[in-house]
Amino acid sequence: MKSSDIRSAYLDFYKEKGHTVVPSSSLVPHGDPTLLLTSAGMVQMKPYFIGEATPPSPRLVSCQKCFRTTDIDVVGDAGHLTYFEMLGNFSIGDYFKKEAIAWSWEFVIERLKLPQENLWITVFLDDDEAENYWLDLGVAKDRILRCDEKDNFWGPAGESGPCGPCSEIHYDFGEGTGCGSSDCGPSCDCDRFSEIWNLVFTELDQDAEGNRTPLKQKNIDTGMGLERTAALMQGKRNVYETDLFTPMMDRIADLTGRRYGETDTVTKAMRVVAEHGRAITFLIADGVIPSNDGRGYVLRRILRRAALFGRKLGLTEAFLTKIAEIVVEQMGDIYPELTSQRDYILKVIDIEEEKFDRTITDGLERLEGMIEIRSIIPKEYVADTDTIRNRILELTQWADNTFYDYGPKLEEMSALKREAWIFAHGILNDALSSARQIQTSGDGNEAETVVEKELSIIAKMPTHLSGFEVFRLWDTFGFPKEITSEIAAENGLSIDLEGFEEEMEAQRERARGAKKFGLADKSDQAYYESLDVPPTEFVGYGEFFTDTLVVGLIVDGEP
Ligand code: GLY
Repeated sequence: MKSSDIRSAYLDFYKEKGHTVVPSSSLVPHGDPTLLLTSAGMVQMKPYFIGEATPPSPRLVSCQKCFRTTDIDVVGDAGHLTYFEMLGNFSIGDYFKKEAIAWSWEFVIERLKLPQENLWITVFLDDDEAENYWLDLGVAKDRILRCDEKDNFWGPAGESGPCGPCSEIHYDFGEGTGCGSSDCGPSCDCDRFSEIWNLVFTELDQDAEGNRTPLKQKNIDTGMGLERTAALMQGKRNVYETDLFTPMMDRIADLTGRRYGETDTVTKAMRVVAEHGRAITFLIADGVIPSNDGRGYVLRRILRRAALFGRKLGLTEAFLTKIAEIVVEQMGDIYPELTSQRDYILKVIDIEEEKFDRTITDGLERLEGMIEIRSIIPKEYVADTDTIRNRILELTQWADNTFYDYGPKLEEMSALKREAWIFAHGILNDALSSARQIQTSGDGNEAETVVEKELSIIAKMPTHLSGFEVFRLWDTFGFPKEITSEIAAENGLSIDLEGFEEEMEAQRERARGAKKFGLADKSDQAYYESLDVPPTEFVGYGEFFTDTLVVGLIVDGEP
């Protein structure tokens, strides 16, 4: 079955069971402040479940565009996606467990014709009722497993809302395909089992503190992953080999001359480019634009991640619009918003990718330099603060003697990335001057705190990228911290997230300060002009120090 056949078979089946087909809602969950992006088919049903709105029918069915942010960093493996389509049937206070279970079984056995011997069922710990319905359908008792809240309780989507125990259908690729562990089962993270359908018995409402109360009515919310189901129906082990992805994979192969399956690195990079390329197309079509927070940041992050993985495939210029074109061509019939907004989508991608493209090479070089410099930090460096202090002295003297006259050690220096070297020198120098402050200042308390902080940064240097480095990569080169973290992890390094947040806060503080001092409005500008002074000349390219004269001040708009 092609993916479009699975989609229509599902919708038709539930139409036969008295359901009304509702179109997918937007990926931007309008009117739901608890959610960043639409993460499940039930999101548009929430007002119906809690009795806040009346549904067009008590039985609804949809194919919903979904986006989940939880697994972005692992996209590129065989199973994780950010954007996916979820098939779902919903009962709003109408049928409950019995019909939901019976119809799902009828669909997988009679319509999809999945072999019963490959299917496993899970139910919530104390849900005898659900287990009995499965047994009545002929499912063997040893194929029904009880799972706890971690695996078999679903929701709420967001901080609060409808939720409930659930029952799942899993497909088993067979012994010998997974981890081989004796306790491997449907909930195992290995790739022997694929969860294809989740039936949620939505009877509870959870508040932001986690308290649960029964909903006035019992509801059904189910979610079947289209991509995973397509993989099974097309005899594939992963979603990237299905017809949902092959047009994109072919395009990437054309653009790069690389082949899916060539090496693990190539395969992963092709998957990331295809997955994120598809996701950004849908996000932009639904009105998300790149920005530095919220859903705009999610978009920026995956677009830049795709651009970076494109580099790994040898692409040196912006290419993501070429992937988006394929997505629009392939999916535009089902999601007309792609076709109607094609030019806009391509424009947004083009602008954002170009912006990143201008700094990506320099940023990568800088990051590589930061990683490289770790390999020359002597291990004893981390041993104790006295060793560090002495080493700082040594290195700084060496640096002072060699760097500024570009003399005898130039060759030695250029073996490292120069920028990274300067940076390391910067940290060492800061720490050294703090150390000197301690020696010379009578009141050493503050200096001591500063120096301890510097020393702890240096002590962590061999294993960590500092908050400052991560911040620099973001601020100057546009590298989202998650991407830096991913590349750092590939090289055995962590990032100092707390330090990064401190740097971000300091930048916000500077921005607030700058706003106060800038020529913020026309009257400031008029005052400045009234001073009739020649333009201020910038001399920082040639000098470190200069004498100058303050000719006026504006305080709260007043000269
Ligand atoms: N709402 C059911 C699911 O997402 O699995």
